[in-house]
Amino acid sequence: MSNYHIKHLEEYYQVYRKSVREPENFWEEIAEEHFMWQRKWDKVLSWDFSKPEVSWFEGAKLNITENCIDRHLATRGNKTAILFEPNDPKEETEHITYSQLHERVNKFANVLKLKGIKKGDRVCIYLPMIPELAISVLACARIGAIHSVVFAGFSSTALSTRINDSDCKMVITSDGSYRGAKTIDLKGIVDDALKDCSCVQSVLVAKRIHSDIKMKADRDEWLQPLLDKASPVCKAEVMNAEDPLFILYTSGSTGMPKGMVHTTAGYMVHTAYTFKNVFQYRENDIYWCTADIGWITGHSYIVYGPLANGATTVMFEGVPSYPDFGRFWDIVQKHKVNQFYTAPTAIRALAKEGVGLVEKYDLSSLKVLGSVGEPINEEAWHWYNDNVGKKKSPIVDTWWQTETGGIMITPIPFVTPTKPTYATLPFIGIQPALMDEQGTELKGNQVEGRLCIKFPWPSMARTIWGNHQRYKDTYFSAFKNKYFTGDGALRDEVGYYRITGRVDDVIIVSGHNLGTAPIEDAINEHPAVAESAIVGFPHEVKGSALYGYITLKETGESRDQNNLRKEINQIITEHIGPIAKLDKIQFTGGLPKTRSGKIMRRILRKIACKETSNLGDTSTLLNPEVVKEIIDQSL
Ligand code: WT7
Repeated sequence: MSNYHIKHLEEYYQVYRKSVREPENFWEEIAEEHFMWQRKWDKVLSWDFSKPEVSWFEGAKLNITENCIDRHLATRGNKTAILFEPNDPKEETEHITYSQLHERVNKFANVLKLKGIKKGDRVCIYLPMIPELAISVLACARIGAIHSVVFAGFSSTALSTRINDSDCKMVITSDGSYRGAKTIDLKGIVDDALKDCSCVQSVLVAKRIHSDIKMKADRDEWLQPLLDKASPVCKAEVMNAEDPLFILYTSGSTGMPKGMVHTTAGYMVHTAYTFKNVFQYRENDIYWCTADIGWITGHSYIVYGPLANGATTVMFEGVPSYPDFGRFWDIVQKHKVNQFYTAPTAIRALAKEGVGLVEKYDLSSLKVLGSVGEPINEEAWHWYNDNVGKKKSPIVDTWWQTETGGIMITPIPFVTPTKPTYATLPFIGIQPALMDEQGTELKGNQVEGRLCIKFPWPSMARTIWGNHQRYKDTYFSAFKNKYFTGDGALRDEVGYYRITGRVDDVIIVSGHNLGTAPIEDAINEHPAVAESAIVGFPHEVKGSALYGYITLKETGESRDQNNLRKEINQIITEHIGPIAKLDKIQFTGGLPKTRSGKIMRRILRKIACKETSNLGDTSTLLNPEVVKEIIDQSL
């Protein structure tokens, strides 16, 4: 028997050691015993981080949807696979059983085929959190099409950039979406985006809000009538282990968003194995991850990981504040949720509303609480632990990234003793390293450095779509033969890891990864703007918020600064989305620069964080005089 389900700390250490000493044997046993293969692999792992090239389970053939759906039919056909909780609590919950999911995915897959989608084609999915989102993802996987889900909060410009980058042939969307008391015109956003996308041949539209929308002849079609006519039988495409499963975009510190490419077999094995252990999922548990499927958390831990384990996974369409800030707890009580996985920003937002709304509900079903997306601060950790978990449900602070595909550093509940603000121990098979700036690995405990991973794991992204050089430069060039995460971390006296945050120009706002460069590019398009620099500063609810220093072209002119601020945030909303709006905008006479003309963000960051007592030596700047002016006028 392989060690699929870890139950105590000794076992963790023992299995961890095995996974490091004999990684191939270890992963082979896991893969062999817990998944359905059409053909087994010839080789478990080959890798070379200098290229970088990584391949897991080479030679194996499989289809991930057979693992997530078909193989459960005999024993779990009538079990709920997806429990859909709508935005409006008065609307009925939908229980989709494994049998129904099978039928709906097959029908959808046949519709994709009918519209000319073939293995390897890219399909962009721009949908709200409705069942069609999970089903379309699985339908793509069924026929070997590569899905590229774009979070439905992104703007039309952000959408068209992503569609064009991966040359999507089709877009799947809906007439609109519900978000609390508001509705959003998704189809209108798609129409705007597609003005710039010649690659898209067809658009499938799900009906959700029944709004009056325009359908473009020869391009747009309502989804439901096509599904009604489709056959419920669709043979799963035979996929190679390393065939791409999906592309998911993530922000970099510079340039275009990066289309991270995840492949089939390794991703499946790692997401399934981590899901089982990190949430200690047992048959008949109700598991709920509050993320959106538009992010990696939703791909791995709403769809693939849970379904590969035959779990019941909750999909929530709405927001934590509607109809009031008790909604999460209302859902936990209503469905007797056992595992609850959310982000620190949501915890802080709910904590601000007081404990009254938590105490109103019966949360006794909860067994495990999860946190993901950014460091969880001590106060939020205790609030979550005391009021939601009643000090009896361990908190799993899970550190990972879009690029890692699955959870990397995390406690295993009831196994690893937790410690507030610590992600604790590497998951089985994960080999972290802390590096100093000279590139030397810091051995032993009580050290702090840059977090790298020195050995491949099954769910790592294999490349950036269309730009392997960038993949190499971003992740494998900073430290020789290591994957560099972009995060800083420390290791305490017992070997627990604490993630200290990004060490590059990526800022995590409300758990969303935002690169500064694309925001600055958007701002610089405003005709009045000469130059801008964005930094992060601490924010009570969002974790970090954005502070923009903006130099205008014409000084002295009396433009209404408040109007300008609004216009700048409007441009950001159009180019990226409302999540990237600036909380503070300071107009400055200039930005501090090095003699080679590089903006000194380090100084701006300190000013935004009100840490002006220790700015370091500013005398070597090209324009040291602007620093004082910026401090005097800081917000
Ligand atoms: C970045 C990755 C992983 C899915 C959601 C975010 C930060 C993530 C934690 C955590 C401290 C964390 C890191 C990481 N991060 N989880 N538990 N503790 N920081 O995925 O958008 O790719 O962002 O989120 O900085 O690099 P992502």
